[in-house]
Parts: sequence; C-alpha cells; structure tokens
Amino acid sequence: MSSKINSVGVFCSGGDAPGMNAAIRAVVRTALFRNLKVYGIYNGYNGMISAQFEELTAKSVGNLIQRGGAFLKAGRSKEFLKPESRKLAYDNLKKAGIESLVCIGGDGSYRGAHTLFEEFKIPIVGIPGTIDNDIYGTDYTIGFDTALNTALDAIDKIRDTAFSHDRLFIVEVMGRDTGYIALNVGLAGGAEEVFVPESPLSLEKVIEHIQSSVQRGKLSSILVTAEGQKPGRAYDLAEAIRKKSGFDAKVCVLGHMQRGGSPTAADRILASRLGASAIEGLLKGFTDVAIGIQNDQISTTTFLDATTKKKQLKLELLQLIHILST
Ligand code: F6P
Repeated sequence: MSSKINSVGVFCSGGDAPGMNAAIRAVVRTALFRNLKVYGIYNGYNGMISAQFEELTAKSVGNLIQRGGAFLKAGRSKEFLKPESRKLAYDNLKKAGIESLVCIGGDGSYRGAHTLFEEFKIPIVGIPGTIDNDIYGTDYTIGFDTALNTALDAIDKIRDTAFSHDRLFIVEVMGRDTGYIALNVGLAGGAEEVFVPESPLSLEKVIEHIQSSVQRGKLSSILVTAEGQKPGRAYDLAEAIRKKSGFDAKVCVLGHMQRGGSPTAADRILASRLGASAIEGLLKGFTDVAIGIQNDQISTTTFLDATTKKKQLKLELLQLIHILST
C-alpha cells in the first residue's frame, strides 16, 4: 500500500504536553526528507477553521527538541463540533494545498480526526500527546514521562518537609479521569497509599495504615491522589481524614506545573519515533489510525478503537505500593 500525497499539515490539539515540540520537529523533518511540503497549523482545530497555516522548513523547527509546550499552540475546540465548521476547515485545507494531516493530541483530538476522515476522506494519522497516558493502543503517550518526573521531583521535595515536621501530606496530581500519573508517581515516590478513580480506596483502611505507621515510629507520610475529574479533591480527602481520625493533612495540588518543562529523554525519543512513523505511515497509505508504541515497537490502532476502548491501569501496583510502604 502506498499513497501519492504531496503535502502534510501538522497540528497539536487538547492540552499541551512536553515533547509535542519534539514530535512536530520529527514530523517536519521526516516529511521534508520524503520530499513532502509541510505546513504547521496553529491553534489546533480552531486554526484549521480560521486557516492559520504556515509552510515550515527544517529551520522552522530548529532549537525546538528541548522545549516544553507546543510552538504551534494547542487547545480544545468547541467550534469543531459543528459540521459547518468542519466543512470550512476542510475547504481551507484544500485551498492551502494540504493533502494529509498529522494530529498530535489525546482522545478528544482523535475523535475530531476520525470525524474529519469520515466526512472528507482526508488522510489523517494521530500520535498520542497527553500527560495522562490514557490512550488505548499505546503503552506510553508523549509527555507522560516528563509529567511523572516533574511530579516525582515535587514529591521528593515535599518529603523533606514531611519528615522535618512529622507531617502527613496529600499530593494531588493530574490525569483527568485516570490514575496513570498518580499510580506511577506513588510507586516511584514511596507514597503510603494512592487514590485512583479506577479503584476507590477505603478511607478507613488508609487511616489504619497511617495509624500503624505512627505506632511504628514513622511520623511522616505521603498520600497521592489523582484529581479524578475533580481538581482540588485532595482538600476533600484531607477534610474527611481530619474528621475521621484527627490527622491534620497538608495538601499540595501540583496542577499545571506537570504540563510544562523540558521533555525527558524518554519523551523526546518517543516523540521523535512517533513523529517520523506518522509520516512513513501516511506515505504507506495509513489513515484514520493512531500511531503508538507497544513493547517498544511502533504500532497502529484505529481511531475508533483508540477512542472507544479503555486502556487498563495496572491496579496490582496499588497493592505493591501498600506493601512497600508498610
Ligand atoms: O489532559 C491533560 C490535562 O492536563 C488533564 O490531566 C487535566 O485534567 C486537564 O488536562 C486540565 O485541562 P485544562 O488545562 O484545560 O485545565
């Protein structure tokens, strides 16, 4: 299978994620290597609707691999949910001579890409860019490793104060309605317990755990919670723990700091491999699919599967976290 495309547009959509720039760089330079014209589409789907296109050169993506954020900007688009706006977007792409697309984003972005393909048959592939790591069909998403390490660095620092003052801390991390960051940073950071939306924890058991730690002479503890679609839920947890046990938990909500910063080596490598594979995939005739990584091999998953199937969190790690902190 091969395709006769002559040009490609690349855009970022959804929340920004560290490594998106490295992915754009890989898309642009691979496209140029394959003699394709390549266009940056600014502001995601909104930029498609308002024709914010710019032809990119190898130089356009110089000095970019190490930068956080997304130089093409990112964002969610309510406007793109309207059929007439998608038609306008497609007409703009056609007018600009953009024959195919690479979408860097999460599942909402993939849903938009799938609809665009269904309606206009424009060749389009996706690569997973989100700190949440919640995309079916890929072991890792671009930005997850960096966000994890940012959160870990914060927890290591909080641990210093927790120890010095014999305190209990609740650290809240992002992840939308999933617990990938929470579970992994909890394990890496030696947390006592981790709250994830996929498997509710009994508050009584958590309190018992802290009480037995205190009895053993362990006077500081760290609990990690995923935001679980309710940013700030760590405050509710702290209040519930205080009411039930009298423990005065300090809260630290890490928030958007997890989305920024220079991408780790793992994220740059992932972004470079996925970005290049997106172009090779388009040239092979792939469309309506997300490129991912599984067992260190590049893989493809239909947008439909990537957006409707649920990736399974390794819940057995919750037990490991419990055992290792006892
Ligand atoms: O999807 C990435 C993410 O950072 C989630 O973890 C979080 O729930 C959400 O985006 C926050 O979105 P916004 O930046 O629009 O507040």
